[in-house]
Amino acid sequence: MNQDLTTAESRLPDRPLTDSLGRVHTSVRLSVTDRCNLRCTYCMPELDATFMPRDHLLTFEELHRLTELLVTRCGINDVRLTGGEPLVRRELDRFVAMLSGIPGLTDLSLTTNGILLPEQAAKLKAAGLKRLNISIDTLDHEQFKKLARRDSLDETLAGIEAAIQCGFESIKLNAIAIQGITEHEFVSLIEFAAAKQVVIRFIEFMPLDFDRAWQRDSVLSGDRLLGLIEQHFGTLIEQPRETPSQPAERFRLPEGGKFAGAEIGIIRSVSQPFCQACNRLRITADGSIRNCLFASDEAPIRDLLRGGASDEQLIQVVRDCVWQKKPSHGIDGDGFSPPPRAMYSIGG
Ligand code: 5AD
Ligand code: SF4
Repeated sequence: MNQDLTTAESRLPDRPLTDSLGRVHTSVRLSVTDRCNLRCTYCMPELDATFMPRDHLLTFEELHRLTELLVTRCGINDVRLTGGEPLVRRELDRFVAMLSGIPGLTDLSLTTNGILLPEQAAKLKAAGLKRLNISIDTLDHEQFKKLARRDSLDETLAGIEAAIQCGFESIKLNAIAIQGITEHEFVSLIEFAAAKQVVIRFIEFMPLDFDRAWQRDSVLSGDRLLGLIEQHFGTLIEQPRETPSQPAERFRLPEGGKFAGAEIGIIRSVSQPFCQACNRLRITADGSIRNCLFASDEAPIRDLLRGGASDEQLIQVVRDCVWQKKPSHGIDGDGFSPPPRAMYSIGG
């Protein structure tokens, strides 16, 4: 290849990561492992989960190289670490410190089930992690055992406490909204979050469970949940979205009650998809670029990374993948089928 051309090309002004519909991508979710210390029914199989062979996992150095390119050359400014359960990846704080050093990365956050936070929260904060989302679907031991297929509620609660003590910029709790379950959980979850002064968000159950048990009526819809919340707590006060690409609709509990002003979020991922404002791409732990949670195609990048690909080649693979993003996930369409990977091997 003409050396001058390569150099000239590499000096071209960098462009944002745009898809064919003009959606600009500024946020990436990096899955660092598909392993997990829980077996949530809406995500993993109960038994015999198969995991990626360890040598398929991108190393921290490989992930850092990709992320640095995305941030310094493609306009990404927000990284969220996911799993499986990201805290089961050894030395995650070392990786957080590596990412923190990337100039232009303004937000660095993590989604976790919280179990390992007591030993890791302070280290992660010191390494530069800014924000945490912690998943908790119930405060009832029996229900937790049923949903997560492990008896780990106390560990999760200890994790939430440890995170609060560390003073992160923000901590949000995530609860899944499942018909027949969340109706019995939302009051105690909202009161718990309000007492801890953290935001709680309810996310409609999506067809990403390994067991493929999801059906349209397994979802407790945002409409129905809001109705139930208002029946219990009174009329909610609607808040503006944090940013247009933020999936959560935000509300505050009404004045006068014990938890007046506490913030609640509803994420209507199924009943009111926010695909038109989506600004995210994903990198799986085994090194594939995904332009959507529900994509059936993805762009494998591990072999390129390991085979000496240039920065320009890697960026081109990402750009092509983003360009091909579909207008929406189409869950409600006739031809919908869930993606070949379940949630734990995509990253939430
Ligand atoms: N639908 C909606 N949310 C899910 N999560 C895991 N599986 C699903 C699903 N099928 C959520 C978890 C966690 C985040 C990683 O993704 O509750 O908050
Ligand atoms: Fe683990 Fe999260 Fe999946 Fe639950 S939802 S099994 S905590 S990866």
